[in-house]
Amino acid sequence: MAETGVAEKLDQRTADAALAFQDVHTHYGASHILRGVSFRLGRGECVSLMGRNGMGKSTTLRTAMGVVRPSGGEVTHFGARANGRPSYRSATEGLAYVPEGRGIFPNLTVRENLVVAARPGRDGRRDWDLERVLELFPRLAERIDNWGNNLSGGEQQMLTIGRALMTNPDVLLLDEATEGLAPLIREEIWRVLGEIKRAGIACLVVDKNVKRLVEICDRHLLLVKGEIVFEGDGEALMADADFLHRHLGV
Ligand SMILES: Nc1ncnc2c1ncn2[C@@H]1O[C@H](COP(=O)(O)OP(=O)(O)OP(=O)(O)O)[C@@H](O)[C@H]1O
Ligand SMILES: [Mg+2]
Repeated sequence: MAETGVAEKLDQRTADAALAFQDVHTHYGASHILRGVSFRLGRGECVSLMGRNGMGKSTTLRTAMGVVRPSGGEVTHFGARANGRPSYRSATEGLAYVPEGRGIFPNLTVRENLVVAARPGRDGRRDWDLERVLELFPRLAERIDNWGNNLSGGEQQMLTIGRALMTNPDVLLLDEATEGLAPLIREEIWRVLGEIKRAGIACLVVDKNVKRLVEICDRHLLLVKGEIVFEGDGEALMADADFLHRHLGV
């Protein structure tokens, strides 16, 4: 009932958004981390979330997913209230999360890791299955019967993204998916992100590679100490060299 009440109060653009934050605050104990974060991620839109270390990027994704509960504000997912909704429920309702580090089962094979993650998306969509994920990641197809813990870091990252796709998400949250990988593998991950975007999945992407983010994302958000200080397209972001240097060190 409460969910309907909130949805009625939302303006149309927020209600239509795949994911929206309205004045969201998040604490870890007494530490006030997110300080009134507001943004919208449109259906099928690809948005980057940038900022130096410790600014609250991962906390934003964790709050979206329900891994941490916001202390104030509204998180909505297709207009439905999702504040602190448990992450397993977020996952069954079309949100997929690729956390920092990797989330695979080391003692399952590649095939098993993918198959156990499989489920239809919202409205029963089954766009993504084992075959399509393996088409996207030929490298995983070659390693299909290998154990998770026998994979390289890059292959584990591919498998983590593949597992997220097996849930047929509408929204994909990616936290530093290219971190610590060899250059060729990074390029492979960026190629896959392009494909995921073309497939119409809305993405919120955290990464350190500003150049690639500008190439792939429609819009950009920049966090400083838990507040969004910039929201705009790549041209606007790149226009102010001093600003970029100050907040991103590029
Ligand atoms: N579980 C936690 N308990 C307490 N403080 C935390 C916790 N996780 C993160 N923090 C603090 O919250 C702040 C934001 O952390 P967060 O991980 O969101 O930053 P980030 O922008 O993702 O940084 P990085 O680029 O290093 O990944 C940091 O000051 C961090 O030390
Ligand atoms: Mg982080």
